[in-house]
Amino acid sequence: MSRTFELETLKMRLSDPEFRPLDLHQRIQRALRGLILDGALGPGVKLPASRALAQSLAVSRDTVENAYVQLQRDGFIQRREGSGSYVCEAIGAQLRGSVRRQQLQGQLGYSREPGAGLSRRGALLLQRGGVSDQQAVTAFATGLPETRSFPLDVWERLQRQALKDYRANVLLHGDPQGALPLRKAIAAYLNLERGAKVQPEQILVLSSTRQALYLCAQLLVDAGKPILLENPGYFGARKAFEAAEARIVPIDVDSQGVRTDLLRADRSGARCVYVTPSHQYPTGVTLSLERRLELTRWAAEQEKWIIEDDYDSEFHYDGLPTACVQGLDPYQRTLYIGTFSKTLYPGLRMGYMALPSELVSAFSAARSIMDGHTPQILQLTLARFMEEGHYNAHVRAMRKLYAGRRQAMLDAIGRHLQGIAVALPPPGGLQIPCLLEPGWSEELTQQRAARAGIQLPGLSRLYAGEQKQPGWLLGYASLSAHEIEAIMVRLAQVLRKA
Ligand SMILES: Cc1ncc(COP(=O)(O)O)c(C=O)c1O
Repeated sequence: MSRTFELETLKMRLSDPEFRPLDLHQRIQRALRGLILDGALGPGVKLPASRALAQSLAVSRDTVENAYVQLQRDGFIQRREGSGSYVCEAIGAQLRGSVRRQQLQGQLGYSREPGAGLSRRGALLLQRGGVSDQQAVTAFATGLPETRSFPLDVWERLQRQALKDYRANVLLHGDPQGALPLRKAIAAYLNLERGAKVQPEQILVLSSTRQALYLCAQLLVDAGKPILLENPGYFGARKAFEAAEARIVPIDVDSQGVRTDLLRADRSGARCVYVTPSHQYPTGVTLSLERRLELTRWAAEQEKWIIEDDYDSEFHYDGLPTACVQGLDPYQRTLYIGTFSKTLYPGLRMGYMALPSELVSAFSAARSIMDGHTPQILQLTLARFMEEGHYNAHVRAMRKLYAGRRQAMLDAIGRHLQGIAVALPPPGGLQIPCLLEPGWSEELTQQRAARAGIQLPGLSRLYAGEQKQPGWLLGYASLSAHEIEAIMVRLAQVLRKA
């Protein structure tokens, strides 16, 4: 620990690029504070008089004065009338002893290991990792909608209108359950387009499906208790339930969707099942009507909850999408989850739940603890977007666009990837599962494609247990037919070359 002030040390610290955006007096104050915390200026060290330091640094005396005043206010230095400015003795006592010093440095972010100090749950979460989202339009990212032609001009106009009409009200907190105009618009849409039976009072506006799943995991499943998840299934759901320390019990899926006979046979004691009935993730199969009805009967008889993730049902290309399970469930055992990530754009972060009435208060309370509510202005803009018919028009336009892209994708796979992979065309959705032909490895094809800048999201990671299906789940909705063809040609080249 230095007992004297060294001008050169201060000058070196001042040249730290981190300080560049700061005002001069702030730079001097931060540099001196850093030297004190590092022990380069020990307790009791006398600092130069402000006039002298100003001269040495070629700055005004006021600048140094301002820095000294702030250091004194923060308790780093003491200024004694007629004597000068000194590094506080008390700071020295705080810094003495290597343990305390290390702790302080740690607090400043220098020396802690990632994950140090986490709870057991936090450490598990860190170990298992989060969900990584695609932040650019990239082939063949799963589930990414077309964003380049989104009607931003209409959105912008409606947002301006909403600001004008609601004025300062949108700047205040809103209802944790969601803005009423949006809840009304969502309920009307669900009842008309998805065959649901909901009232606006049952709608909870959220930031995403993931938030809905996180809330379900927290509120419906105790730590160590089982939850039934489709196998293969959506990793986002698995992550949410794992984060709540639930025990995952996989339920196999076949060509008609989740196997309700296995649900009947389940003896794990699980109280909830998570399902994707419209387009099972990742196989894309639609849950048959018979199984939908069986699912609701099973839930009613055994007092289970059905968590229905209806993430991309709007994009069904062979006839109309089947009505949602919620609408077929007379027993109110279904928690319906919808998202605007696919129908509008994922950066919006807007989703919702339609809840059985008795769960509304608990979910709203949990949401109020989590983050209060979704931004008011976004909710009110979206409500108008829906009320004025833009939402339905956009979905209709996108459905047509994606149907064309889906065909382009199937044609390109058939043309260029013969002998490598076969597509299993689903009736809807924004992605196509492909199975690899014998002799092709999921990992190696992914590595080779990645070198050419092409992502091949794997299928096998979506399976629980040993029986994994090697393949890819290829998203196509964000790419034009022309792009799809060009990328497929390149993919075939890099795979065959090796
Ligand atoms: C099965 C499934 N559910 C929901 C979502 C949407 O998630 P979010 O609303 O969190 O963007 C996705 C997105 O990929 C998905 O694949």
